[in-house]
This record gives sequence, C-alpha cells and structure tokens, in this order.
Amino acid sequence: MKKYYITTPIYYVNDKPHIGHAYTTILADTLSRFRNIIGEESFFLTGLDEHGLKVQQAAEKNQVTPEVHCDQMAPAFIELWEKLNINYSDFIRTTEKRHTKIVQNILNQVHKNGDIYQDEYEGWYSISEERFITEKEVESGLFGEVKKIKEKNYFFKMSKYQSELIKKIESGELSIQPKSRKNEVLGFLKQDLSDLCISRPKSRLEWGIEIPFDKDYVTYVWFDALINYISAPKYSEDNNTFDLHWPADVHLIGKDILITHSVYWPTMLMSLNLPLPKAIFAHGWWLTDEKKMSKSLGNIINPLMLIDEFGVDSVRYYLMSEMVLGLDATFSMDSFVKKYNSDLANDLGNLVSRVCTLISNNFDDKMPNYKSKDSDLSKSFNAIDMKQHLDHFQMDSLLHKIMNFVRSVNGYMEKNQPWKLVKEDKEAAGHILYHAAESLRVAAIMLSPVMPEKSKEILIALGATASKLDWGALKPGDKISKGDPIFPRIVQ
Ligand code: ME8
Ligand code: MG
Repeated sequence: MKKYYITTPIYYVNDKPHIGHAYTTILADTLSRFRNIIGEESFFLTGLDEHGLKVQQAAEKNQVTPEVHCDQMAPAFIELWEKLNINYSDFIRTTEKRHTKIVQNILNQVHKNGDIYQDEYEGWYSISEERFITEKEVESGLFGEVKKIKEKNYFFKMSKYQSELIKKIESGELSIQPKSRKNEVLGFLKQDLSDLCISRPKSRLEWGIEIPFDKDYVTYVWFDALINYISAPKYSEDNNTFDLHWPADVHLIGKDILITHSVYWPTMLMSLNLPLPKAIFAHGWWLTDEKKMSKSLGNIINPLMLIDEFGVDSVRYYLMSEMVLGLDATFSMDSFVKKYNSDLANDLGNLVSRVCTLISNNFDDKMPNYKSKDSDLSKSFNAIDMKQHLDHFQMDSLLHKIMNFVRSVNGYMEKNQPWKLVKEDKEAAGHILYHAAESLRVAAIMLSPVMPEKSKEILIALGATASKLDWGALKPGDKISKGDPIFPRIVQ
C-alpha cells in the first residue's frame, strides 16, 4: 500500500539548527503521527543539505575540509531530533553515495532528453542565495554580497515547462498551500521564466556533485538538493520502493524556499516524466523582535535550552499551537510561559488531577460505572473531524479544537459538580466522572502526535489500556493510578 509520504527541507549544515528548523521538523513529525492515528502508514523523510558555497565557506572558516565539516555538523541535527522525539523514517545526507549516484543518473537522463545545454552567461550572482539574480533584485539591496560573473555553464530548460506548470498549479494537480502562497507562485509565473543555471565551474566552487558528462563542473546545490525527495525512495534504482512512496503527499517548507520548491522542482520532475508532489505547504517565519530568526542575524533561540528547562512536549505543543496557518509567529518567553500555564498546567493538567482525585477518594481508585455510553461529551468528541484538518495541514486549528474539547470537559464538571453529587447520588456522580475520564482518554490520544510522552502519562493516570479512539474503551472497575501533576505550573 502506498505510504503517506511527508518531507521536510534538508537543512544546510553551515550552522547549528534553531527553533525555525525545529518547527518544520516537529510539524512533519506531528503530521506523520496524526496520519498513523487515522489508520494510515506514513513515511517521513528529513536530512541535510551538505554541498554548495555556503557549506564550503563555513568549512573554510572552521579550517577543516568540507567533508570533515559536514561530519562535525550532522550530529547537532541528529541529536536535536532525538531530544525532540522526532520519529523520522529516513535521514538523508546529500554527500551519501545513494544520493550522489542518483543525481548523476538524473543529470544524464535530462541531458539525453535534450533539456540541458551549455551557454555563456554574464550576470549578478548572490552569494547568500547561491544563484544568479536579476538587475531588479540587485537594486533591491536585499541580497547581501553580489558579484558580477561571466562564465560558461550548463542550463536546464526550465522555461519549456512554464505553461504546463501554470496549468497544473491552477487545476490543483499540484496543490500549493495556503492559498496566499499559491497566488504568490502564480504571480511569479506571470513573468517569463528563464532557464536554470545548474552547474558551477570547479575553478570557482569545488564542493558539489560532479556533472557526469563534464568533469570541470559540479552540480548547482539546489538541483542536487531537491532530488533528495526521490533519491531517498530509490528513484531509478528500485521501482517497487519508489512506487510505494512517490508522489510525495506533502513537502513541508518555510516560505523562504517557496519558489525553488514550486517552480524549479516541478519542472525538473516534468522533464523526468514523473508525477508532481500532491502538495507543497509553506509555513510562515518564526520571528524574534519582529525580525526573522536566522543564523546570519544571530537572533536565535536555542531549542535545547527550552527543552532542558520545560520538557520536550511543552516545546512541541507551544510551537504547534502558536503559529497560525500561513502566518508569521513571534517567539517570546513570555508567550511560552503564558500558553503553558493556561493550556497545559491549567486546562489539561488540573483537570486530569481533579478527575483522578475524585475517583480515588470516592471510588476506591477504581473507574466508576456509567449509566449510558452517550453524553454531551461523546457527541462533541465525535464532531471532531481530524482527517478534514489534516488534509489541509491545519494542525494549529485541529489542536485548538482538541483543546476546546478539553475545556468543555471542564465545563461539564462545573455544571454537574460530581464532588457535591457524590453525597446524594453516588451512581450519578460515577457516571459524570466516567465520561470526564473517557474524554480525557480520547483527548490524550488525539494530543499524542504533539505530546507523545505527556499523553502516555495521562493514559497511565487514567488506567487506560486501550489506545483506540473508539468512545467508551475505559473499563469500569479498572484501577487508576493518580500520580504527580503532569504539567506543574511555571512560576516566574
Ligand atoms: O534552505 N522560521 O536550508 P536552511 C520558520 N538547504 N522556519 C524556519 C526559519 C524561521 N525563522 N528558519 C529556518 C535550505 N526555517 C535548503 C533547503 S530543501 C531541498 C533545501 C526552516 O537550513 C524552514 O523550514 O536555510 C525553512 O524553509 C528551512 O528551515 C530552511 O533551512
Ligand atoms: Mg536559509
């Protein structure tokens, strides 16, 4: 059966990862776990982009070879993903043989097709973007260091596919989300598309994959990097594996790399006669003090510091719920603490303690019996359509729905006051507590893609053994095991 195939960008190893990289990776991990919960098998790919000028320059700065530099940097990513509980299916590095050999296969194939030609080109080159830029872009002053360069290079006939690409984007065959990003790409495609320079002479840049039909050149880093999405599932090497994965269901990216993913990549795939990814989802930027968090600006929040202080699940929860679909979000310690205390410590954590304490004190630590399986709570639970949200990558609004459901359990407790009721009608109070506990069980399962560890703790406290989302799986008579507060309040 075809897997639900999710990718993140492969990150440059010119510096250590920060909250921005952590965000996309947690988003992919969360989506992957959610797809599993609704009964699908997912495949989640992430990795590292190790070639190109930026990496070569970073290596020079550290006075090591690029190979050594990459090997020194990779663990910083792998260890952070471990700490963040990232459950990737595969991790690819573009210096691996399994990747470089497929990039060369593809270059040969596209060359044979007649979609690669050699030409001399003179133009402005941006070091930070690693590409030739237009006069207009030079004038904008947004591109940092620029150089005029005149050289012979290989070009990919990207322009040839322009009108076909526009059709595929307009028809939704390639879905670019959210809608504002689709419009941005279609706006970009209103001007004539030029061909893509896909080589760099070794005299200027050595650190790259050699062009298989001309040993004086290496491959442009973006042409190399994008191919990771099909080299990992073994394009041109193993058809069965490839067909189980491709086309990707979604490429998750930040809006900084929208054009490379929505224009360069699909035209490359068209030249290879391959289906396009089903969707590209570009999220906004994490800002600090209204500026994009970036390695070059040096205004970075170190995720490790947050994890050590507040626990991995609260960091995951904050990042997933704070960024609204498609918009930028500002990271601050203040909003982190506020969100933690109100959503996790108060709404969720206190409720778990309260329900468990009442069951413990009045029902001898055993799950009480219910009068009927249905309640207002079972109805609001059934109204949550997870798949609908997931299909639109609306993880933040799905989370808000789940948290609203948790808040409605608080409302249910206030309305029915089982702590009073238990003195008059123990059976009725048991019914209320059962439904509150069952709601917390399903809420914990729905929250598990975001908070895998804390969800387990909640299930243990409730004595839940079933991990299915079917309503009514808690068994009356089963032992609960109330423990310490799951989300202790942060006092500042
Ligand atoms: O672009 N806010 O790698 P990169 C949100 N190697 N997300 C952010 C962010 C921020 N402030 N900063 C980074 C590259 N990101 C290429 C990709 S893919 C074939 C090649 C995240 O290390 C976001 O996902 O610059 C963004 O698109 C990505 O990191 C860029 O990482
Ligand atoms: Mg970048």
